[in-house]
Order: sequence, then structure tokens, then C-alpha cells
Amino acid sequence: SRVTQGDRGPTVVVSNRGPVTFSRDEDGERQHSRGAGGLVTALNAVLRRSEGAVWIASAQSEEDAEVAREPAPYEVEDLRVRLVEHDGAAYDLMYNTLANPLLWFVQHGLYNLPYSPRLGDDTREAWENGYLAVNRNFARAAADTVGDAPSATILLHDYQLYMTPLFLRGELGDRAEDAFVSLFVHIPWPEPDGWGILPNYMREGILESLLSADVVAFHTRAYARNFMETAARVLGAEVDLDNGTVRYAGREVWVRAYPISIDPAEFEELAGSEAVLEQEEFVKGLPGKLLLRVDRTDLSKNVVRGFEAYGRMLERHPEMKEDVTFLAQLQPSRGDIPEYAAYMEAVGRTVEEVNERHGTGSWRPIELFMQDNFPRSVAAYKNYDALLVNAVRDGMNLVAKEAAVVNEKDGVLILSEYAGAHEELGDSALTVNPYDLDEQADAIHEALTMPEDERHRRAGALRETVLSNTIEDWVEAQVKDIEAFREKGG
Ligand code: G6P
Repeated sequence: SRVTQGDRGPTVVVSNRGPVTFSRDEDGERQHSRGAGGLVTALNAVLRRSEGAVWIASAQSEEDAEVAREPAPYEVEDLRVRLVEHDGAAYDLMYNTLANPLLWFVQHGLYNLPYSPRLGDDTREAWENGYLAVNRNFARAAADTVGDAPSATILLHDYQLYMTPLFLRGELGDRAEDAFVSLFVHIPWPEPDGWGILPNYMREGILESLLSADVVAFHTRAYARNFMETAARVLGAEVDLDNGTVRYAGREVWVRAYPISIDPAEFEELAGSEAVLEQEEFVKGLPGKLLLRVDRTDLSKNVVRGFEAYGRMLERHPEMKEDVTFLAQLQPSRGDIPEYAAYMEAVGRTVEEVNERHGTGSWRPIELFMQDNFPRSVAAYKNYDALLVNAVRDGMNLVAKEAAVVNEKDGVLILSEYAGAHEELGDSALTVNPYDLDEQADAIHEALTMPEDERHRRAGALRETVLSNTIEDWVEAQVKDIEAFREKGG
């Protein structure tokens, strides 16, 4: 399936994080490495198949800024990438004050922590000079890429871009009429009360902007419903929960749920690659059964509680000692934000505590790696006996899906009831409440001691479920709706 439809105009995808980031090697040659996070992984799989589509993203490095200054989209690994260079201070405010410690925290229910988001002196400045400025740049770059072409399809992604739909309408002018604009929210959308913490100008601004798109999309029906209820509460918009429509300012907006997924073939191929096979030797050398987690070092992933639950399990079941290793592959993330930096330290401390308390001369209960090593993660996907995904909230969580399709051990998935993936995978996983350490300790033990036949049945069902909704299906469902929206003359 293709994102670009035969007789349609250009397709433009915009996200803050791009598929690749550039640098220069010692010889002055341009190098690139892949961008972080689930969104990029998924969009990558889509964009590689959509001929001619341009992917717009923020410049993240000096070399990215060089690429941004080049007039034509840069072609790399079957992708056409256009980078946008923001003012450094504006980007910093957008990323490190507004989008991550505030919007991300609000949408993941992290605002009741001792180190809650800082609605401080800098909030309004970060909104106006950071978030709005960066969103204006995205809107300009998208409109510029579309040029004079009619019937453009502009697909905006995620919470860093909430204000882009509104600015884009302005930039497109008359061209807005036959353009299709959607914004996909890849993170949870809390209930209306959850938005109570944000200043009015911000929540009203965000909702008005989103409702100037044609489609607003989410990973689960629950988030879509929460969004419609929030629009009704904050703007008094007229919503039809059953049909997924919102009427506001004389326009009809469709609100949809498309659960994102992975490209199984891509992961099967990766699983057999040289780099992964090399890492597999290390993974297989770890003592005992393998308990695994793979995450960015994000507070929402609930890493500290996961280690504490594991420690509790070892205390209750000392017979498990030396019979299991917990491998944690954590990719450092957003380290300039104090809450994240403090969290990374807390993660390190907790690992030391558990290892000191329960370790023996020849056995370390937890092996922690805080670095990006994708081949090692895939090697571990193949070999886990239990996979812990205990996020306090998560838009979807693609690790659960990636791991399930390449695992060779009938591994058991332990899954938070608050991960978006739970709507699809809940039946074949062991469900846990991410706040309840006892329940997680029990689930870890149950997963590691589960009888063969039950493991086999669950792992099979899990795999089937993932294979029944792949990234292709995700794209297809959206393409269908874009066509339907256009046909009704939206
Ligand atoms: C999540 C978000 C993405 C983001 C990714 C990585 O998946 O939904 O929008 O790109 O995390 O985070 P980062 O801040 O490094 O882009």
C-alpha cells in the first residue's frame, strides 16, 4: 500500500524527531544514524514504501543544520528527508520546557510526582517563544514543500506539533481547501480532568488547533473518546462519540483510532542479521532464565518500580537466585531535562541496591545497559523468557510487538494495563497494575515458572495478534479514511 494515491498531490509527513540524524566522521564524510523512539521506527517502515513522500523533521545536530540549508530534500536509505533548522533557544524551550516536562507529563499522568512539571515563570514564555515558534516553522516548511501543488496530503505527528494544524491553515491560504491535514497523537490522551493542570490559553489553543485538522488520530479508542470529551468540555464542541465526529467552528473533524504496529518482515530479517547474531552470544551467556526490558529512560516507563518488583520477587523466592538474569536495555533520553537526569540516577541506584542485596559471588541479578544498542535489544527479543512492559502509561508500546514476533523461547509478556498495547495484547499477556509492586513481583515469578504448554499457547496467541494488524494495516486504514473524507467533501 502507498501513502501517495495515484491522482493525488504530494504527501508530506512532519514529526519533530526525524528518521536519521547526521554527523561528520574523522574524514569529513557525512554519516547518519537512526532516530530514537517508537514513532520513528513505525514511520520509517511506512515512508520507505511511499514513493515521493517527503518527511520533514527538526535538525538535531550541526550536520543536520547543514542538511537543512540545502534546498532539495535529502535522499537517504530510500527516504526523502527535509530538515528544519529552528532557533536554538526556541527549540530548547519547546523541547526541554514545554513539550516534554509539561505536555508529556500531563498526558502520562506524571504530574502528581514530587518533581511534577514546572508550571512556573517560564511557562508562558516557553509556549510563546518556544512551542509556537517551532510549530510555525513546521507549518511553513510543510506549506513550502507542498508549493503550488493541489490536493496535498499533510500528515502531522505527535504532541510536539499540536499548534501546527492551525498555522498550516494560515500558511496554505486558498490551498487549504483541497488539502487533507491530519494530526496523529502517539501518546495517551487523558480524560478531560487530566487537562485541568494546563493554563487555559494552552488547552484551548491546543484543542482549537487540533480541530482545524481534518482527522485527529490516536492508538486506542479510549484516547479518541477522551479527546472528544475534552473538546466538548474545554471548547463546548459538539461531539458524536459513536461516529467519532466533532463539529466546531463550522467544520467537521473525524476522530479515529488506528493502533500502530510494526513490520514483522523487517524484524524477522533483522533477527538473522550479522550484528544481531554477534550480540546473541552475549545474551545467551547470561546465567539462568532471561527477564528483559527495553525502553528509553523515561519516567513513564516505570523502570524503578520494575526493578523493585524484581527485588521483591527474589526476596520471596530465594530459590530463583542464580536462575534468572534481568537484562535492562535502556536508551538514554531527554537528559537535559532535570526530571529525566534525576530519574536516570534513580535507575542506577536501584540497580545497585538490588544487585548488592541479592547478588552472589558469581551472579548479578540485574545487567543494566544505559546506551543505545539496537542489535543487542533484538538479540534479547529472540531469547527472553519473560518481557516486562510495566509503563505507568504508554501511547502504544511497540517493544511488546517487536519482541513477540521474533521471540524463540515462548516468552511471556508482562504488560501494564495502562499501555495502549493492552487493548490488543491484554488477553495473551499477564496483566499488571504498574503501581502495584506486589502484583508485579508475582507476575514476574509466574512468568518465569509458567508450565510449558501455557507459555506456548500464550506466545502463539500473542504472535498471531501482532501479525493480524501490521504496519501495512495501520497505513491502509488511514488511507481509506483519507479517501472517504475527501469523497464526502470534507
Ligand atoms: C515517543 C514520542 C515520540 C518521540 C519518541 C522519542 O515515542 O511519542 O514523539 O520522538 O518518544 O523521544 P524524543 O524526545 O527522543 O524524540
